[in-house]
Amino acid sequence: MIDQPTIDRILDVANIVDVVSDFVTLRKRGVNYVGLCPFHTDKSPSFYVSPAKNICKCFACGEGGTAVHFIMKHEQLNYFDALRFLAKKYHIDIQERELTDKEKQVRSERESMLIVNNWAQSYFTTQLHEHQEGQTAGLRYFIERGFREDIIRKFQLGYCLDKRDELYKAAMKAGYKKEYLEKTGLVIVYENGKANDRFRGRVIFPVHTLSGKVVAFGGRVLKKDEKTAKYVNSPESEIYRKSYELYGIYFAKQAIVKADRCFLVEGYTDVISMHQAGIENVVSSSGTALTQGQIRLIKRFTNNITVLYDGDAAGIKAALRGIDLLLEEGMNVKVVLLPDGEDPDSFARKHNASQFSGFIQEKETDFIRFKTKLLLDEAGYDPIKRSALISDIIRTIAIIPDNIIRSVYIRECSTMLEIEEQVLLNETNKIRLSQNEKKQPQPQQVNSSPATVPPYPEEQIVTETAGAQQQEGEAVQAAPVRSPFEVYELALIRYIVRYGEQILFDYFDEELQQQITMKVAEYIYFDLQRDDIEIKTPLFKHILDEAATKCKENGFIANRFFLAHPNSRVSQLAANLMSEKYQLSKYHTKFKDLETEESKLPQLVPHEIFALKNAYIQYRIKEILIKMKEIQHSGDMEKAFDLQRQFLKLNEMKDVLSKELGERIVLKM
Ligand code: CTP
Ligand code: MN
Repeated sequence: MIDQPTIDRILDVANIVDVVSDFVTLRKRGVNYVGLCPFHTDKSPSFYVSPAKNICKCFACGEGGTAVHFIMKHEQLNYFDALRFLAKKYHIDIQERELTDKEKQVRSERESMLIVNNWAQSYFTTQLHEHQEGQTAGLRYFIERGFREDIIRKFQLGYCLDKRDELYKAAMKAGYKKEYLEKTGLVIVYENGKANDRFRGRVIFPVHTLSGKVVAFGGRVLKKDEKTAKYVNSPESEIYRKSYELYGIYFAKQAIVKADRCFLVEGYTDVISMHQAGIENVVSSSGTALTQGQIRLIKRFTNNITVLYDGDAAGIKAALRGIDLLLEEGMNVKVVLLPDGEDPDSFARKHNASQFSGFIQEKETDFIRFKTKLLLDEAGYDPIKRSALISDIIRTIAIIPDNIIRSVYIRECSTMLEIEEQVLLNETNKIRLSQNEKKQPQPQQVNSSPATVPPYPEEQIVTETAGAQQQEGEAVQAAPVRSPFEVYELALIRYIVRYGEQILFDYFDEELQQQITMKVAEYIYFDLQRDDIEIKTPLFKHILDEAATKCKENGFIANRFFLAHPNSRVSQLAANLMSEKYQLSKYHTKFKDLETEESKLPQLVPHEIFALKNAYIQYRIKEILIKMKEIQHSGDMEKAFDLQRQFLKLNEMKDVLSKELGERIVLKM
């Protein structure tokens, strides 16, 4: 780990104009610099660099942040490697932070496993090329399949001898521990202590992480009619979480960014054959349905995904099922059907790169259009089938998160299905509404404090330790369930990041007979605490807590601190919040002139806290209304009265809150 003083030093010297200029031609415009955005195809300069704030931002695609974020994105590096990149540029020696004992233990376990795998990979590769059995069995197999020598080398393919424990013995001899051979799954240890090679007699496909570390292997049998499974794969482990890895991503990432598109195929051999044919922006989910973690991995590089399917009926049916998750994540999904009986592997072997690309270009179809047409053909004029098909399509369209894209599809499908647009629109909205309601967390027992809100599944708070994990495994966090209060919370966090250390109130309290000085971060912290309100979004809570503690220290400057934060999710968020165009509440936009924001903090901050509290109350009022409706016909008068009472009470509280807001502002200005 790089220690914090070093991180600070790197950020201090890394001048944003200087860093960006290495990659983008910048022109001065006013106090800022502008250039063509390197992250999307930019026709007129939308990429702004602010020397004053030391951040950059594209106002077209939204990319940007500090110098570190710029390098992370541009060079496809993780946070710490981006820091190292900058340190090198500015000739700063890196002081690595001492790890805690716990960190050391986790780290050494992971590292030991990675080291063993690294050794095994080169062992397998050597056997393939140099051992006689490797050559006649393994290498011959690859060559018969049409893999070129350079491609075999590039993907570090290998061979495991068809002996019981050759690898195990070699590993022991080379000084590796049995424990890690077992944990990585390279050997299977039986109860009597005997250890057998897992992959014996198979050709080996190493699985690389985004940064090129080998975390797993796939081993394929050589013969077609073998009774054992076609593939044996490494088990899940400390270093291998299958649902977060994509085969080929390491070799594909640059090409994905460049093409702004990622091809998705089924298997190892499809990825390799397409590379060989010159199409490198391709990954595989290794035979299983895509997971959210994998989609997010792709999303770091592009929003456009094209799925290649076998043209047979089974392939098509399977394909239709896997797409919802992609749409839900906001990906633009296209589909290419290969000719019947072909998979990308066989097709790539029969065609050269330009033929393959040409075929894709010609056949690439937008997913919704594809599905609609497919189902239409199937249904023919059968009215029952047709209505089933229509609700099927509507359900798919309803998944798409972006309003505009959704409406485009509705229009198009209305033509294809010969149904009025308004009807489709209504149906889609109905589904979305009911889904939103389902997504709202179930209320717990009702009680009278405005702070009582249902709990949400906790997103894992990313601490420094997790940051270290991210450095190594590039694990993508599982999606948090969003709290309905997130926008209000974010508005508060924005003030914390921008102005956390500034003094909000400084007055003499007659009652307490003392001078009260409150900084922005403290005020928010204590005011929420006073009403027993907890920030529900873990990342935000983390920021608030940290700011409230840190702002007691001399010289603490919130934006500096959070922009340089070792947790890259925090620093990225901070960079977004520092950018001028980031506006949140309606109230806030009333003050069009952002220069005055700072002077209006004593009004703005309490108002934003009020908004959050108000949202809690509104939420509970809504809950009660729903309950009232539910018991309407049950005749349970007792319950009805009770709800009515609660309802009135909440409304009362709402008034109190508004009044209090007014008073607080008047009193303490
Ligand atoms: N797979 C697996 N275990 C199996 C079968 C398949 O893990 N028993 C995974 C592998 O990751 C494989 C992918 O599913 O790459 C696709 O399966 P398939 O098309 O059968 O394998 P290919 O890699 O395409 O191999 P080949 O072309 O040699 O049949
Ligand atoms: Mn295949």
